[in-house]
Amino acid sequence: MEKVKIQLKKTGHAFYKILIGHNFSKNIAKFLRKEFPESVCVIIADETVKKLYGENLRKELKKNGQKVFLFSIPEGERSKNQKYKTMIEEKMLKLRIGRQSVIVAIGGGVVGDLAGFIAATYMRGIPCIQVPTTLLAMVDSSIGGKTGIDTEQGKNLIGAFWQPRAVFVDLKYIQSLSQRQFINGLVEAVKVFLTSDANSFLYVEKHISIILKRNQEALKKVITSAVSIKARVVERDERESGERMILNFGHTVGHALENLSQYKIPHGYAVALGIIIEAGIAVDTGKLKISDYSRIKNLLINKMGIELKTLGAYKPKEILDHAKNDKKSKNGKSRYVILKEIGKVYVCKNMFAHHVKDSAVIRVLNKINLANKK
Ligand SMILES: NC(=O)c1ccc[n+]([C@@H]2O[C@H](COP(=O)([O-])OP(=O)(O)OC[C@H]3O[C@@H](n4cnc5c(N)ncnc54)[C@H](O)[C@@H]3O)[C@@H](O)[C@H]2O)c1
Repeated sequence: MEKVKIQLKKTGHAFYKILIGHNFSKNIAKFLRKEFPESVCVIIADETVKKLYGENLRKELKKNGQKVFLFSIPEGERSKNQKYKTMIEEKMLKLRIGRQSVIVAIGGGVVGDLAGFIAATYMRGIPCIQVPTTLLAMVDSSIGGKTGIDTEQGKNLIGAFWQPRAVFVDLKYIQSLSQRQFINGLVEAVKVFLTSDANSFLYVEKHISIILKRNQEALKKVITSAVSIKARVVERDERESGERMILNFGHTVGHALENLSQYKIPHGYAVALGIIIEAGIAVDTGKLKISDYSRIKNLLINKMGIELKTLGAYKPKEILDHAKNDKKSKNGKSRYVILKEIGKVYVCKNMFAHHVKDSAVIRVLNKINLANKK
C-alpha cells in the first residue's frame, strides 16, 4: 500500500492521508470506527456505483456496528447541481441526521464534488471521506478539497473548499471502468505531469501501451505520482490563489467545451482538447517549443485516441466567449496556464495564469481546425 500525506497550514483539519492500494472496505470501516465512533454514516453514490460497490460498502460498515444510510443520485454531470444537493440534504434532515455524522462519497468526480459540498454546508460542516472509483477522481478530484456544483452559467461556479478527512484509492475499482472513462482519467494525470513532472510524462509516453491495458504496477506508479504532485501543490496553495492554478491547465478551454456541449463531452476529453489548444497557445506566444507540442499531441491524439474532430462542432468565437465565464477570468478576460516546457509552466511576477489576446486564441483554434480538415 502507498501512503501520501497532505499537511495543510490554513484549515482546522490540517492533515489527512491518501491511501493507494487494494480492497479497502475493511480499512474504511476501521477508520470510521476509530475516528467517528458514534457518528451516523451517510454514503453517497450514483446509481451505477451504488450497485457496483456502494451496497457492499454499506454492508461492511453496518457489520462494523455503524448506523449507515446510502443515498444515490442519477449518474452523470447533470446531477451535479442544486436540485440533487437539496434532495439529499432534505432526506438527511427528515431522518434527523445531526452534526454527529460523516459523509462517505463513493464514486467519480460528480459524486465527490456534490457530496463534498453537502458535507461543507450541512449543519455548517460535517466530515467527509472520499472513496474515488474513477481514475479521474483517484488522480485529481478526490484530493485537495475543491467541492461544488454546476449552474446554467457554467461549471463549478458554486462551491466550497472542504478538505476530506481521508481518501481511499482502491485500485480494484479501475477494472470495471469503460475504456472511455479510463482515458478520461488518464488525461488528468497527463495534465499534472505536463505542468509539474517531465519524468512522469516520459514514463507515460514509454509505457502507454501497458497503461492502456491497465497493468496494475504501471497504474499504481502513475496514480501515486499524480497524487503526490497534487498533494504538494495543494499544500503550498490550498485556496488556489497562486500555484494551484497550474492544475487548471487545459481547463479554461476544457470547461468552455463541456459547457458548450451541454456536458456531452466528458470532462477528461474536454480537458484533453483544452490541453491541445492551450499548448498551441503556448507555442503561438513563443513560450513552448514545437517539439514539446508534438509530443503532447502524439500522446493524446495518436496513443490515447483523443479526436480533434469534436472541435469542429463549435465556432472559435463561441469557444472564446464561453472561456470568459471561467473562474480564472479577470475583468471579463479569460486567463490561461501557459506551458514553458514539458513539466514546467510559465510564471511571471508570481502569476500562474495569464491573459492571452482574443486574436491569439482564435488564431490557434482556426489553425487546429484547419489542420484537422486536411
Ligand atoms: N474537485 C476537483 O478538484 C475536480 C477535479 C477534476 C474534475 N472534477 C469534476 O469531476 C467530474 C468528472 O468526474 P468523473 O469523470 O469521475 O465523472 P463521473 O463521476 O460522472 O463518473 C463517470 C461515470 O463512471 C461511472 N463509474 C464510476 N466509477 C465506476 C467504476 N468503478 N466502474 C464503472 N463505472 C464507474 C459513473 O457512474 C459515471 O457514469 C466533473 O464534474 C469535474 O468537474 C473535480
